Amino acid sequence: MKAIILSGGKGTRLRPLTYSGAKQLVPVANKPILFYCIENIVQVGIKEIGIIISPETGQEIKDTVGDGSRWKVKIEYITQDMPGGLAHAIKTAREFLGGSSFVMYLGDNLIGTGIEKFVNDFNTNKPEALILLKEVDNPEQFGVAEVTEDKSVVRLIEKPKVPPSNLALVGIYIFSPKVHEAIEMIRPSERGELEITDAIQKLIETGSNVESFILDMWWLDTGKKDDMLTANAIVLDEWLTESIDASVDEESNILGRVSIAKGSEIINSKIRGPVVIGENTVVKDSFVGPYTSIGDNVTVVKSSVEHSVIMSGSELYDIERLEESLIGRKVKISQNSTRHKALRLLLGDDSVVEV
Ligand code: DAU
Repeated sequence: MKAIILSGGKGTRLRPLTYSGAKQLVPVANKPILFYCIENIVQVGIKEIGIIISPETGQEIKDTVGDGSRWKVKIEYITQDMPGGLAHAIKTAREFLGGSSFVMYLGDNLIGTGIEKFVNDFNTNKPEALILLKEVDNPEQFGVAEVTEDKSVVRLIEKPKVPPSNLALVGIYIFSPKVHEAIEMIRPSERGELEITDAIQKLIETGSNVESFILDMWWLDTGKKDDMLTANAIVLDEWLTESIDASVDEESNILGRVSIAKGSEIINSKIRGPVVIGENTVVKDSFVGPYTSIGDNVTVVKSSVEHSVIMSGSELYDIERLEESLIGRKVKISQNSTRHKALRLLLGDDSVVEV
């Protein structure tokens, strides 16, 4: 079995973060989302992974992920010249996939479990497709499945205005090579994409066996700011292990599960876990509260931060209380030093500021 991870697309929903970078590389608990996908695939013994990239962000993904030797697998890159849809991405990977069955993993999806159970089930029952479903409150934002009482899938629709159920399609699928035939039979949807939901629907209509699992663990499609913060909080809560490689002075106080990487300094500050702090970061006269991830080379001085993600190279000075914020790379936030009460902002397109 092989695997493809879809890391192309436009990433419009996470703007402005995705103006300068791929959304699959946005960190959750200081690790790119894409790495969680790779680890889940490697864990089931798959040795050949194809990553679908776009011409715009592909190089950054290649530079960050490498050739797979870090995970002892072979990673190949497949460029999709335009975001033509998930089924179009499979078409683009046709040569790489050959006659193999394969896992298709969307590079912005995070689930709270490994995928062994699903791969084992696929290998035992040999359906043409295995899909994962999850009950959600906003099914109209996903592919949605209509299932019978015995859980067989009768219909799949992409982002329906009137959803037939609250079962969303999770972005992890397993296919036999038969899916290629189904993809040849479909046409672009209203939004101009070759939809994987239509290809799976074709498999159902032509009598193929499509199995489904209803996930009882958490699942996050990390497309938006609040989803990112939730993903960060859940991952810190469930997977963070304590490790302090940094220098922590006598005046500082570290409570709960906290990980701080080498070269960082904690001076006269209180860190309350779960918190992860990257390399060469300085936290001085500050409070870093629960559910916060701070990247490498960050400076936090006389500030208080909670439930937030602060990416590498950013600086915070005299910020009384920063909460539920997603701060990109090399951002500087500081207190106005004059008595004149005014906001002085330099914000890129699509920035969001609540004051
Ligand atoms: O996250 C689950 C949902 O993912 C499913 O419920 C939907 O049925 C499925 O269509 C998909 O919907 P999204 O609108 O969330 O897909 P998005 O455009 O965000 O793309 C998902 C990933 O695939 C993302 O990492 C970008 C990548 N991608 C996307 C397209 C359209 C590609 O690599 N190539 C593409 O052509």
